[in-house]
Amino acid sequence: MEQKKKVILTGDRPTGRLHIGHYVGSLRRRVELQNSGLYDKIFIFEADAQALTDNFDNPEKVRQNVIEVALDYLSAGLDPARSTLFIQSLIPELCELSFYYMNLVTVSRVQRNPTVKTEIQMRGFSGESIPVGFFTYPISQAADITAFRATTVPVGEDQEPMLEQCREIVRRFNNTYGDVLVEPDILLPDNKACLRLPGTDGQAKMSKSLGNCIYLSDSADEVVRKVKTMYTDPLHLQVSDPGHLEGNTVFTYLDAFATDEQVERLTAGAYPTLDEMKAHYTRGGLGDMKCKKLLTAILNETLEPLRQRRREYEQDIAGVCQILQEGSMRARETAAETMDMVRRAMRIDYFQTPEFVEEMKKKYS
Ligand code: TRP
Repeated sequence: MEQKKKVILTGDRPTGRLHIGHYVGSLRRRVELQNSGLYDKIFIFEADAQALTDNFDNPEKVRQNVIEVALDYLSAGLDPARSTLFIQSLIPELCELSFYYMNLVTVSRVQRNPTVKTEIQMRGFSGESIPVGFFTYPISQAADITAFRATTVPVGEDQEPMLEQCREIVRRFNNTYGDVLVEPDILLPDNKACLRLPGTDGQAKMSKSLGNCIYLSDSADEVVRKVKTMYTDPLHLQVSDPGHLEGNTVFTYLDAFATDEQVERLTAGAYPTLDEMKAHYTRGGLGDMKCKKLLTAILNETLEPLRQRRREYEQDIAGVCQILQEGSMRARETAAETMDMVRRAMRIDYFQTPEFVEEMKKKYS
């Protein structure tokens, strides 16, 4: 038997520039996975149709961010020669697949999806006033994943309910129509500090509306400015006071970004490891400014290669558009293959083979 191919699929809604929370939470990992050589295929896509489920009245926002996010992808090191980068709405097969999946899911099952529940609350939809498109996006997300026969979906923990729902749809489909779809595994971020990076103000989440993000496209000066005003430890009033690491955003970011090599080099040997720096901070005698200086240096060192690649791609936006267009064409071929398998399994592949015509001829003869 042919060995099951390892296929990665993941994506983002193009509703804004990506920030360093996206970088440590997902982008950095995707680039590592891409470069690991362990995967037969890698699909990374912009979920523009999904973004429209709650931005249908502001399509311009989605339109403007498609290239912005593509630049974030490319500057982070996603390589169009190794990863297929594409746009969701350019794959009409996804709609077709979703349409059949809708038969396999009940309203109450979607209502029980914790991510949908929270989002309904956040958006203030009450009772039955939820737009159908928004309500069914977990079903369309199952189509996104299965159309490419993905085995591995690297996403944040907030997407766990989506993956569970997808796996249920796969099992339901395979039980009903035959073993056609691949059940995907979720691949969660490996570093605790990377699960969710707080905002620079210490709020639980980086979000554009809170104005507490550091963007991948921020200049070195912007990073300096943003780190300067970062939330630390409100009890650490004097340098000599003992400091607290818990909830201290500077140290959370250091956990997510710093390597001991960087800490040693950028503190000129004062601290051979991040742990020793933390110990000094906890004891007292290490000021916030010094910690912020180190964090700024590490962030800028990390982001500099991204900025450089971004500048190059910005010189060739037509080329970036072409990458997305060609990626979408290639992605569509895979989705169309899956669609053929699905139609065959569902026995609605009427004119693909002579079988149906022959059968009907016999029946009516
Ligand atoms: N829901 C995901 C998000 O908001 C984006 C997404 C859409 C996705 N379809 C997907 C992620 C399929 C992984 C696989 O971030």
